[in-house]
Amino acid sequence: MIKHLRSAADLDAATATLILDTAGEMAALAGREVKKLPTLRGRTVVNLFYEDSTRTRISFEAAAKRLSADVINFSAKGSSVSKGESLKDTALTLQAMGADAVVIRHPASGAPHRLAAWVDGSVVNAGDGTHEHPTQALLDAYTMRSRLGRLDGLRVAIVGDVLHSRVARSNVLLLTTLGAQVTLVGPPTLIPVDIAAALSPSTKVSYDLDSVLPDMDVVMMLRVQTERMQDSYFPSAREYSRRYGLDLARMRKMPEHAIVMHPGPMNRGMEIAPEVADSSRSTIVEQVANGVSARMAVLYLLLGGKA
Ligand code: ASP
Ligand code: CP
Repeated sequence: MIKHLRSAADLDAATATLILDTAGEMAALAGREVKKLPTLRGRTVVNLFYEDSTRTRISFEAAAKRLSADVINFSAKGSSVSKGESLKDTALTLQAMGADAVVIRHPASGAPHRLAAWVDGSVVNAGDGTHEHPTQALLDAYTMRSRLGRLDGLRVAIVGDVLHSRVARSNVLLLTTLGAQVTLVGPPTLIPVDIAAALSPSTKVSYDLDSVLPDMDVVMMLRVQTERMQDSYFPSAREYSRRYGLDLARMRKMPEHAIVMHPGPMNRGMEIAPEVADSSRSTIVEQVANGVSARMAVLYLLLGGKA
């Protein structure tokens, strides 16, 4: 088993499948009255969050607690980071406290790689800048597999603000490792030139959402990340929504079995219409629940558990 999960590229097909299978076993726990396993008793997991988060932070905390680990939640707001303390000095402080695993979300791409050089424990990337969000890709793959029964040969469209999306990057890497066929869809300004080839040569690009929908098993909508935009990438929110928003009329163009995903948080009414987000084809709430199981599997396996 790998020691760190910094990128979806750290996972070969066998390791990724082991994590998904283990997540399935963890999910079975969620239905029990007592949801705890004693597996990580005496181990310490630190959640180190330098950027806002709802789902990822809460689900890593729930995951570690369900495995009986001691959990320390650190958020940069309210810490000595505001006094100018560096990531390295913060890491050395955690190291002195004996962290077995550090889960990090940071605005700088590559922060988890730096951190891994400074701490002895496992490092798990919970989202670094516009780079990667590998546990999101794992929970997404888990959701697709449990809804559609397989990943190999699955046709997945990832739609919208690909440029700023660490979710898109990690999903392309993981899904192609597991045999899915990914198409990136969005306005040309929000799809970096050559990204498809750089991440995986089999990945396709389209600028026309309507034409790809009938061929997809999964349509994953991405949030338009205005907080990361310094320039204007499209004429207006209305125009974006008209061309790339998933509304009911567009959803009807998808095959009947196809599902709609979104990592959250959503801009309802922009990239996704509320009726679509709340429809029976949407897996958005399921993705959040699966996030706890996927993160339990990651912590369990990285910290030395067996399948
Ligand atoms: N929550 C995801 C992330 O942190 C996606 C998003 O924010 O749009 O990358
Ligand atoms: N999907 C996701 O990472 O959500 P948060 O930003 O709320 O953690």
